[in-house]
Amino acid sequence: MTRRLYIETVGCQMNMLDSELVVASLRQRGYRLVDSPKRADTILFNTCSVRQHAEDKIYSALGRLKHAKRHHPDKVIGVIGCMAQKDQHQIFERAPYVDLVVGPGQLQQIPDLIERVTLGAGRQIEVSLGRKDGTREQISRSHESYDPLRDPTMRPTPFQAYVRIQIGCDKFCTYCIVPMVRGPEQGRPPEDILAEARILVDQGTKEITLLGQTVNSYRYTAHGKTTCLSNLLESLQEIDGLDRIKFVTNYPKDMTDDLLDAVHDLSKVSPYLHVPAQSGSNRILERMKRGYTVEDYRDMMHRIRQRVPEAAVTSDFIVGFCSETENDFKQTIDLVRECRFKNCFIFKYSERPGTKGAERMDDDVPEDVKKRRNNELLAVQNEICEEENLKFLGQTVEVLVEGPSKAARKQASSENVVEQLTGRTPSDHIAVFNGNARLVGRILPVRIYDVTPFTLFGDIVTDHVGPEVYGLELASPP
Ligand code: 5AD
Ligand code: SF4
Repeated sequence: MTRRLYIETVGCQMNMLDSELVVASLRQRGYRLVDSPKRADTILFNTCSVRQHAEDKIYSALGRLKHAKRHHPDKVIGVIGCMAQKDQHQIFERAPYVDLVVGPGQLQQIPDLIERVTLGAGRQIEVSLGRKDGTREQISRSHESYDPLRDPTMRPTPFQAYVRIQIGCDKFCTYCIVPMVRGPEQGRPPEDILAEARILVDQGTKEITLLGQTVNSYRYTAHGKTTCLSNLLESLQEIDGLDRIKFVTNYPKDMTDDLLDAVHDLSKVSPYLHVPAQSGSNRILERMKRGYTVEDYRDMMHRIRQRVPEAAVTSDFIVGFCSETENDFKQTIDLVRECRFKNCFIFKYSERPGTKGAERMDDDVPEDVKKRRNNELLAVQNEICEEENLKFLGQTVEVLVEGPSKAARKQASSENVVEQLTGRTPSDHIAVFNGNARLVGRILPVRIYDVTPFTLFGDIVTDHVGPEVYGLELASPP
């Protein structure tokens, strides 16, 4: 019997990749994806714990299923991913009709766990060890992920794919739950990463984004040889058919010159660097235990501008961290003004139980102050986005065509109709232009004629209409 699966994913790219793997493993067992929980007999929530808001959303989605479960007790409801690892049995207490709680390190067990539920074995829970519940070796093993199984249909587009190169994090920033829910930092063996990339390219993937919480800290040592991110990039550059390589998220302290030179020298590596600064105040950075000063960050920006002048740099900031004053916040604004990021993701501090921040510091910045600082910083960054985008006017950029634009998706379209398409430049800028839907998956030159803070608008530069063609015609005798 075909089972019908509905899966909802919140959170980062890691979670999107995890969902792709879960769907692949369930399809192998004959599951079919459906687009509403009503039509499904198995409902999974792949969850995020980074901020309270993300958890609240899941608990309210679960609340909405309470009634459905009463009427259809055979529906299997599962909570998987980071919140499953963080809240464990508490999820059963808050939503007693949940059947399945599975952490990010146990996702490969999901098909068997669902089967056990359907056979009447009752609730199932599988999670990894806590960071103090064993030796590093034991804890690491309990967090291992299973990457080889892929399902191209789950990706945003068939020619773009994520590849995990590292799991976990050892930085323990005081606000962050990730080291607790994703476990110790572990690099994947380079040969596994390259084998996976080759398979993806054989299946039509043109752009690969390497994933890690601190992706540029990637290291793998075997037989006395250590591989770092720049070595991996060099090997990936050699894969025929692969056009673009990106990597997220970077840790400022590990942005080595060697890596920056690789980004500059390797033609397939996008000049796009996401390097969260989190704050512009040394006092706050120290309380966050980020391991660098504002001066270190500035020095890193300087090295990026020198070695990869074409790079687009993006950042994350947290406003309203414990004890943040107006003066601390002003220094964050100064840093944002100075760095001229391509984009910034700005978050209001959200206290996470289990972190040092929650245990030792007071979440003392009122919500309305956090909100105001968030809006103020956003306004500064938006201005920069617009000014920076103006530089693209009249330029021709290479765009990987991803599909219909948001506006076009709302209207029905057919294969041969010209419609509004969207894609990204190597520096990760979003471009919108008119074209035929069959161009999806191609890399094309687009000439930019208008910009907004977040979008470049352009026309595809077509062959055969260049001045030389006119020249030939004019030169030919009457
Ligand atoms: N509160 C608010 N933002 C957070 N982030 C991580 N933890 C928290 C938290 N407790 C932000 C950081 C990180 C991004 C993924 O989420 O800016 O870079
Ligand atoms: Fe969290 Fe810091 Fe690790 Fe990033 S580096 S995942 S913010 S602990």
